[in-house]
Amino acid sequence: MAIRLSRTFVLRKLHQLTGIMPLGFFLLEHFYTNSKALAGAASFNDAVKDLQSIPYILFVEIGGIFIPLIYHAVYGLVITAEARPNNLAYPYPRNWFYTVQRVTGIILFFFIAFHVLNFRFGMIPGLNTISVAHHPEQSFDIVSREFRMIPIFIVYMVGITATVWHLANGIWLFLVDWGITIGERAQRLAGYACIAFGVVLLLVGINAAVAFIRPGGLLAGIM
Ligand code: HEM
Repeated sequence: MAIRLSRTFVLRKLHQLTGIMPLGFFLLEHFYTNSKALAGAASFNDAVKDLQSIPYILFVEIGGIFIPLIYHAVYGLVITAEARPNNLAYPYPRNWFYTVQRVTGIILFFFIAFHVLNFRFGMIPGLNTISVAHHPEQSFDIVSREFRMIPIFIVYMVGITATVWHLANGIWLFLVDWGITIGERAQRLAGYACIAFGVVLLLVGINAAVAFIRPGGLLAGIM
């Protein structure tokens, strides 16, 4: 017997899948590259140069990052517009997580648009007009100059925190929605694992950002 899948079901599953792969995996790679700044400017610039030397890099970026990101972002806003939060009547943690997932999605929409125009394309007049991707030898200096501006650094701290929260909670949602964690105990344990993952990822992301304004990052002198 043929199974008919509704259009909304397929769009929804595709939205969930793009959040994990490629976007979640890309975030891990991104934080890894940023962490090269811990070893100094030359190490970070070399990492950017290596990424840009990947064959067909533009097509890899378009197919592997930009298209999934635009789909996930736009359909995420559609899902958010349909949301009916009722946190005050039912203040359960999962209910709050539902709302925070949507709020962080909106923050991410504006933050990622700004971040990509800023560093990838160098298209923010008055702030940065040099594309990091096209000038790998200047990439550390471009980021470092901006991060020394306190409002910009705060924007990045909020953006990194919102992104990590969205991914960590998103992984938990994915595990439940795709029937990977079934049962109350499994879902509770998966919840703890996602919190631990989120805390570690947040520290890695913040430490990499700090490395652009403080040589060696938060643990300079210790490690
Ligand atoms: C750019 C703007 C973004 C918007 C507007 C957005 C919006 C949303 C919304 C509304 C949900 C909840 C869907 C639901 O409960 O059914 C969601 C889920 C998710 N998002 Fe995003 N998101 C964005 C970016 C990202 C990014 C950059 C990542 C990866 C780092 C990501 C990863 C995820 C994951 C893993 C889920 C869980 C999928 C699931 O429900 O199974 N999102 N997103």
